[in-house]
Amino acid sequence: MSQPFLLGAATAPYQVEGNNVNSDYWKMEHVKHSDFIEKSGEACDHYHRYKEDLALLAGSGCNAYRFGIEWARIEPEEGHIDRQALSHYRDVLLCCHSLGLTPVVTLHHFSSPTWLIGQGGWAKPYVVTAFARYARIVAEELGDLMTYVCTINEANMGFQLGKIAQDMMKSKGKKEGDVQVGTNSSLSLKTILLGMLEQGRVFHVSPFAVNTFLKPRNQAAEKIVMAAHRAAKAEIRRVAPDLRIGLTLSLFDYQPLPGGEERAAQLWQEDFGFYLPFFRDDDFLGVQNYTRKIIDTKGAQEIAPDAALTQMGYETYPEALGHVLTKVAEDFHGDLIVTENGIATADDAARCVFIQKAIAGLRDAQSRGVSVRGYLHWSLLDNFEWQAGYAKTFGLIAVDRRTQTRYPKESLSTLGAFARA
Ligand code: BGC
Repeated sequence: MSQPFLLGAATAPYQVEGNNVNSDYWKMEHVKHSDFIEKSGEACDHYHRYKEDLALLAGSGCNAYRFGIEWARIEPEEGHIDRQALSHYRDVLLCCHSLGLTPVVTLHHFSSPTWLIGQGGWAKPYVVTAFARYARIVAEELGDLMTYVCTINEANMGFQLGKIAQDMMKSKGKKEGDVQVGTNSSLSLKTILLGMLEQGRVFHVSPFAVNTFLKPRNQAAEKIVMAAHRAAKAEIRRVAPDLRIGLTLSLFDYQPLPGGEERAAQLWQEDFGFYLPFFRDDDFLGVQNYTRKIIDTKGAQEIAPDAALTQMGYETYPEALGHVLTKVAEDFHGDLIVTENGIATADDAARCVFIQKAIAGLRDAQSRGVSVRGYLHWSLLDNFEWQAGYAKTFGLIAVDRRTQTRYPKESLSTLGAFARA
């Protein structure tokens, strides 16, 4: 049966639920020399307020919601499954269905259970077994209510971070906006080193072996991530054969200047081509794009001084989405779902324009035969942008975190209008 075009918004559990005390991020936030600008705390208390949030999303006309299941809630200790957490996510899924929202469920969105890091985290093959076991449990228990499953969010992030780490070592310095995720580049070397020592103690591993998901990785280590994806997919297939399974990638629109073609092709190969053999036969690919990079013979150029910037420091460039979708479809022939695309800004009128332009680009790609099955805007709520804290506002709904009051923005209705049209 063909699904209607999915139109909606996305969140990640750690960024909105609050109090994910058994997750590695919680531990990293709470060491004395933490690299987080602020703590996640109660976040948006979405764990308790999801009904209100989903009602707002559905009320705008949207028909889909991408959210994540927090592994550390399901398996707070290794091998111990928390039935209450499973039943919570069952309620969220039921709520989606009752409101006419197709759920798109992410199994891993950056945060992992603390115990996994003690077992070697994302650098040791054990994660393949552990992640597949968790994926099977979720599919067995909740598969009857699910349709789309994203195994791993931005499965290509480790290598992108690895390249930044290499640049830093060559003392080229790290630029904000080099990755499409909130980082904190304001720390002194001393704070970084003390933080590493403290994290090692918390996770009971050497300070150099704190292998959480967002750690720099080389391509050999990326194969472990891909193996985890494939093992999880096989387990889910076994217990819930009808689910549509994919992963998501963080992708830039690389635009070569004359002479930059080879470098742009190499960057695309590193972000996309390297991973393709591992997901080529998936049911869909989740495409996540926020901006472009202009490439000359040496690599990414500095952003033009007159370009509009988002709060994340990268260029506001909604046209990137259509370009990336078209580029992906040259080599991946399954369905595409835009699982994230958005803008961190305090100017909601700019967000409305961003949405309109991004969807225009998506439609243009569709008109050229690209099979795009959905657009899930990042993000439903202003939320915890990882190391960068709460100041980066990506949401369609503002949240006053003192009272947890929700304030839907005009952009929510702009997005919903595409579903109502
Ligand atoms: C991540 C989100 C993040 C967003 C905005 C993506 O990299 O999946 O967790 O909040 O970008 O930076």
